[in-house]
Amino acid sequence: MKTVFISGASRGIGKALAQLFIKNNFFVIGTSTKGVVDFTHENLLMLQLDQTDSSSIERCARSVTDLGKKIDVLINNAAMWIEGDYEKEVDVTILRKTLEANLIGVIDLTERLIPLMNQGGHMVNVSSRQGSFGYISTIHTTSYSISKAALNMYTRALAYRLTDHITVSAIHPGYVKTDMNEGEGDLEPEEAANDIYELALRDVETGKFWFQGKEFPW
Ligand SMILES: NC(=O)c1ccc[n+]([C@@H]2O[C@H](COP(=O)([O-])OP(=O)(O)OC[C@H]3O[C@@H](n4cnc5c(N)ncnc54)[C@H](OP(=O)(O)O)[C@@H]3O)[C@@H](O)[C@H]2O)c1
Repeated sequence: MKTVFISGASRGIGKALAQLFIKNNFFVIGTSTKGVVDFTHENLLMLQLDQTDSSSIERCARSVTDLGKKIDVLINNAAMWIEGDYEKEVDVTILRKTLEANLIGVIDLTERLIPLMNQGGHMVNVSSRQGSFGYISTIHTTSYSISKAALNMYTRALAYRLTDHITVSAIHPGYVKTDMNEGEGDLEPEEAANDIYELALRDVETGKFWFQGKEFPW
C-alpha cells in the first residue's frame, strides 16, 4: 500500500483529496490545525499541523518519522488567505502571517519530509494562478500572490536539487468552491482533487506548473 501525505486535509480540496486517495487504496497521512477531520477510516491518520508554528511543524514531521512509513506522494495543500488581503495597501501583519503559513512553514515541513520520501516519489505543491507572473493582470491579493509566487520558485529550486530522485510539480487547482472563496468558484473540490490526483500519479517532467493536465505559465 502506497502512502500519501496531504497537508490541510480537514476541508475543501485537501479533504476531497484524502477521500480520493483512500478510495484508491492509499494510506493517507492528513493534517489540520486541530489534527481532526469529520470522518474516520482505517487507512487515515490525522496529525496536528499549524504551518505558522515551528514547534507544531517539528512535532508533525517527528510523528511521520515515528510512523516508519515512506512517503510516495507529498501534497503541500494547506494554505490560508487572510481577510483584508484585498486592500490596495499591503498590511505587513497580514503579509508576515501569510508568508509564514503558505511559504516558510511549507518549506520547513517539506525539508523535514524529503528524507522520508521514496525514490521515484512525487511532490505536488498546490499553488495558484495568483502566483503566476505569466497570468496575472491585476493583483488584488498581494500577500497571498507573493506567497504562491515564492512557492513556485521553491518548486523550481527543489526540482533542480532533487533531479533523478523525486519529481516536484506545482499545480493551480482552479477556482474552487471552498471556504477560502466563501463557497464561490467554478469547480467542486472533488473536481480539483481529481486533477491533483491525476498529476500526482502521472509520470511528468519535474519542475513544471500545471492546470487541468496542461502546463501553466510561471
Ligand atoms: N479554492 C480555490 O479557488 C483555490 C484557488 C487556487 C489555489 N488554491 C489553493 O488550494 C489549496 C487548498 O485550498 P482550499 O480552497 O481547499 O482551502 P480551505 O478550504 O480554506 O482549506 C484550507 C486547509 O488548510 C488548512 N490550513 C489553514 N491554515 C493553516 C495553517 N496555518 N497551517 C496548517 N494548515 C492550515 C486548513 O485546516 P483547518 O481546517 O484546521 O483550518 C484546511 O485544511 C491552498 O493551497 C490554496 O491556496 C485554492
